[in-house]
Amino acid sequence: MKIAVLGTGMVGEAISTKLVQLGHEVMMGSRTANNEKAAAWIGKAGKGASQGTFADAARHGEIAFNCTAGVASVEALKAAGADNLKGKVLLDLSNPLDFSKGMPPRVLIGPDDSLGEQLQRALPDTRVVKTLNTVNAMAMVDPSRIASGDHHMFLAGNDASAKGRVTEILRGWFGWKHVLDLGDITGARALEAYLPLWLRLWGALQTPDFSIKVVKNG
Ligand SMILES: NC(=O)c1ccc[n+]([C@@H]2O[C@H](COP(=O)([O-])OP(=O)(O)OC[C@H]3O[C@@H](n4cnc5c(N)ncnc54)[C@H](OP(=O)(O)O)[C@@H]3O)[C@@H](O)[C@H]2O)c1
Repeated sequence: MKIAVLGTGMVGEAISTKLVQLGHEVMMGSRTANNEKAAAWIGKAGKGASQGTFADAARHGEIAFNCTAGVASVEALKAAGADNLKGKVLLDLSNPLDFSKGMPPRVLIGPDDSLGEQLQRALPDTRVVKTLNTVNAMAMVDPSRIASGDHHMFLAGNDASAKGRVTEILRGWFGWKHVLDLGDITGARALEAYLPLWLRLWGALQTPDFSIKVVKNG
């Protein structure tokens, strides 16, 4: 498939690398058409890897991944272009973290809104699915590195068929065994509100390689 990965950070690189390894044609998008990090990634990833602006990548992709800094995601996705993303599935991996006041970062949005919802409002004809924001970049595409993959990934979005497609991607491409649907895009509020606990756990465990396993009675 032709896929847009919007973002040149560690998440964009991890997702893009995995997708190229799977044989997809991945365009990494950024604010400029000649981003240094994207160029370095293309050098490593080889065939199937390309770069462009957010809009170039959004045009290229049959589906898109939002891997931009949360404070800038709405701006980045507007630059990608609502028309370029019309009808497409957008996997939103971002967290609305504000580092401007030092560590730990603050979650900027909530309690009655979320970045996932802001993106869905900015892109009304795009099918936004919030997912993968609860684990580190490496675990997103290789869940087996934690507890042999015996832990959960979540998703939230308004469109049932988009969530079905994302579930296939999580299971078939990235190897997630357990995928839990948290309902419509307002579920992004809960997924984003997990971040303060994630940051505390990181400090307590001294590793970012951890995840959530949901257990229930019966
Ligand atoms: N790091 C992780 O393990 C992890 C795990 C879960 C979720 N997340 C979330 O995933 C997202 C990506 O994280 P990351 O660490 O890979 O990268 P990041 O440093 O948070 O974001 C990098 C991307 O954001 C873009 N960006 C920054 N400021 C911008 C602005 N003012 N306007 C438009 N675009 C802007 C950059 O564009 P340029 O390329 O043009 O510079 C770059 O592509 C974040 O929302 C993060 O919270 C991260």
